[in-house]
Amino acid sequence: MSSIEELLAGRDVCICAGSGGVGKTTTSAAIALGMAARGKKVCVLTIDPAKRLADSLGLEELGNEATRVDPALLEANGVTGEGELWAMMLDAKQTFDSLIARHAEDEAARERVLDNRIYQQISSALAGSQEYMAMEKLFELHSEGRFDLLVLDTPPSRNALDFLDAPERLTQFIEGRSLQLFLKPTGLAAKVAGRGAGVVLSILRRIVGFDLLTDLSEFFTAFSGMIDGFQERARRVNTLLRNPDTTFVIVCGPQAEPIDEAVFFHDKLVESGMGFGGAVVNRVRYRLLADDVDEAGVVRDVDSAIGNPDLAERIGKTLSEYQHLAERDEQNISKLSTKLGGDPVIRIPYLDTDVHDLAGLSEINRFLFADEATRIELAT
Ligand SMILES: Nc1ncnc2c1ncn2[C@@H]1O[C@H](COP(=O)(O)OP(=O)(O)OP(=O)(O)O)[C@@H](O)[C@H]1O
Ligand SMILES: [Mg+2]
Repeated sequence: MSSIEELLAGRDVCICAGSGGVGKTTTSAAIALGMAARGKKVCVLTIDPAKRLADSLGLEELGNEATRVDPALLEANGVTGEGELWAMMLDAKQTFDSLIARHAEDEAARERVLDNRIYQQISSALAGSQEYMAMEKLFELHSEGRFDLLVLDTPPSRNALDFLDAPERLTQFIEGRSLQLFLKPTGLAAKVAGRGAGVVLSILRRIVGFDLLTDLSEFFTAFSGMIDGFQERARRVNTLLRNPDTTFVIVCGPQAEPIDEAVFFHDKLVESGMGFGGAVVNRVRYRLLADDVDEAGVVRDVDSAIGNPDLAERIGKTLSEYQHLAERDEQNISKLSTKLGGDPVIRIPYLDTDVHDLAGLSEINRFLFADEATRIELAT
């Protein structure tokens, strides 16, 4: 089975997707670092990285702009040469704001929307789902063409598929009935803006503390001018996801349930015409005992070495439990390999410590960038 480098050959976008907590942020940062070490100009777009990882990439603040990781820092971690590592933390709200700025007809329209209280509410809510904004930023950086490779981390979601539907969902929201109701020339917005509803309005104003309906009306009027732009953009984001140079890496855990989810996600990707690169199975437990060694044998050997039968027994038990888990991981992963029909499955072992700095990412890369034989040798 191949290394992540082969899987990325000729690609300029790599999207790391998977369920919550499996190691997406870790894997995407490690891939970016590894490709920078191989001379590429790479940018990783991370989402909610753990603070220590963000710090170690030099991402102290939410900038929503790519910043270059200090070459001296890379060099201290053995990364030299032509490559560059850039990173950014995605700020969904800021991305949405700049999207408005792009689609507004003029400065005044832009200000009207950004200052609008309804927009502020809606954008925070939409930004909360993050998926669309992540791809929006990806699209923006891809259009700029400054990088050889963009690695996109995806938001923690229970359902990895949410991510794929995001452009459609935004378009549906915009095309949806409730919005159209407001936007029609004779729609609610126009009526509200009229003078008829004076009494109702003044009561509402008293209840909500500001002129809600005027704000609503203003917002939708200003927003209506941007709808074509939004729809066109969502279409182009969609196209980028299906671009032959875009590849998805599915990150998952080695247990039965995450493996099933990964298979399901793979099938959906293929069905939707998106490129599947391979799977990274993270936090894999490898067998520590050879086939001809059993628990009793371990207890005997340890006891004769340290002369403590109690301790020997406990060590034997722990090792044999671990062996059990490792065997189960192995079965699950071999099921995954079968289902993926020959597409790469890359295993990363369960490391002793958390991965929160460049040294930790390099440790991950010893596996990600190795061939399968070397991986097994390193892990066992
Ligand atoms: N192979 C590994 N061995 C040990 N610890 C790991 C390994 N991979 C990741 N971790 C640790 O597991 C935790 C979760 O990893 P990570 O943040 O990358 O997951 P995630 O999929 O991005 O999570 P979320 O869905 O919440 O965004 C982190 O603390 C990370 O340091
Ligand atoms: Mg994450």
